[in-house]
Parts: sequence; C-alpha cells; structure tokens
Amino acid sequence: RALLRPGGLWTSLDVVERTGSTNTDLVAADGPEGAVLVAEEQSAGRGRLDRTWSAPARSGLFLSVRLTPGPGVPVARWGWLPLLAGVATATALSRAAGVDTALKWPNDLLVTVDGQERKAGGILAERAGDSVVVGIGLNVSLRAAELPVPTAGSLALAGAAVLDRDPLLRAVLRSLEEWYLRWRDAGGDPGPSRLQEAYAAGCATLGRTVRAELPGDRALVGEAVAVDGDGRLVLATGDGVQEPVGAGDIVHLRP
Ligand code: BTN
Repeated sequence: RALLRPGGLWTSLDVVERTGSTNTDLVAADGPEGAVLVAEEQSAGRGRLDRTWSAPARSGLFLSVRLTPGPGVPVARWGWLPLLAGVATATALSRAAGVDTALKWPNDLLVTVDGQERKAGGILAERAGDSVVVGIGLNVSLRAAELPVPTAGSLALAGAAVLDRDPLLRAVLRSLEEWYLRWRDAGGDPGPSRLQEAYAAGCATLGRTVRAELPGDRALVGEAVAVDGDGRLVLATGDGVQEPVGAGDIVHLRP
C-alpha cells in the first residue's frame, strides 16, 4: 500500500539532508494536513519542556507531520495527539522491528536495554494555527558510546530486528495514519477510538510510584493510577486524594 495515495492522510513527504528542527520548519510553514518532513540530521532539535534533542546524523528518525483535526474534533481533545503519536509509534515498532516499547507518561518511548528502561524516543507536539505539528524523534542505530546521555537507549541496543530507517519510517507513518483517522472519525473521543485503552495498556507509568515535577518548582509523589479522559495522569497521593497531572516531568521511582 502506497504511503502517499489518493484519499490517504499523507499529502507530501520531504526528506532534507540537514535542518535546525523539523518541528520549527513545519510550524513556520503554512501547508495542508498530511505534510511530512524528515531530516537526516538536525542541528537544533527540540524536545519537550524546552529541552534539546540531539542525535548524530542518520542515527535515527527525525520527522514532523502536520495534522489538522478540523471542526469535528473539539480543541479540548487535541491534547490526545501527542499520546496518540506515542501509541502509534510503539505499535509500529513492535510490528516492524519486533521491539517492545513502553510509554512513560506522556510520551517518552522506552525500550529495555540490559534489563533497564531507557528512553529511545520522544514526541513534541506544537500548535500551529488550526493544526498541530507532531514531531517524533527515535534513536535507531546508536551504539552505547554514541548515546547523547547515558540513560538513553536505542532500537539497536534493544535488539531490534530491523534498523533500516526507511521501513521504520513507513511503519511509523502507516500506524500514525490508522490511529489518527480512527481518533478523528470518533470526534477525538479517546473512548470509542480505543485510544485511551491502548494508551493505558502501553503505559509503563501506570501502577508505579512516581514523582511528578510540575511547572513552578512544585513536585508531587504518588502512585500513578489512571490516565483520565483528558489524557492527564492521575496520581493517588495518599488518604484517598487523587491529583490529575496535565503537564510536567515524571520520574519513575519504584516498580
Ligand atoms: C522529547 O522527548 O522531549 C521530544 C523529542 C522530540 C524530537 C523530535 S525529532 C523531530 C522533531 N523535530 C524537533 O526539533 N523535535 C522533534
């Protein structure tokens, strides 16, 4: 099945040798839904919470896509898009490369390397007018000595059966198309589209004791008990108190 086919989601696929950040480029460009931009190398890759995303040229997948949910999906539900991209990427990696990937809330992609959870990918979603630009970064071929930080991982280190970026890219885009169309056609409701269920099933944060580092230097410790209908992580902090966390950084403390 062709990726760019009439009636399909993807309308263009551009591959550039080098750019600052594929997200920055797509946010700045006006364009139709379904534009895909892939870079072989990024000189100023960006991550969530104002972090940087750096990886050697050709060592992974660095791509951004433009999604325009339209009037059928209330803006309040757009927050599901980065979680949807996490589920879609995890599904693709298990199908195409035989790698088990878990999600650390909201959407860090974790692989297991020598029995340890390591971050091998991440997602950055940014609003651009009536669109959302979703960027996906994935460490593919990196060996231990090449990792940007010692706690990172890669598909190679996780024993992936496929390390060619082309089939991986196709698998990610196919899976993203399937999940996105199902979610959009359900009006963005994560229930009927089974997104909420799939997210919970793939989320390594649920059931763990975590520390949530919140904006404004606040922190909460509790057990992650659910992901609610708005995609927020619900923490049980003791005495029956449940606190939804909508933004911030999560640290897994205990299994
Ligand atoms: C994170 O883990 O914080 C998100 C990382 C997202 C990285 C990708 S790489 C392609 C796209 N372009 C960027 O500048 N960032 C995203």
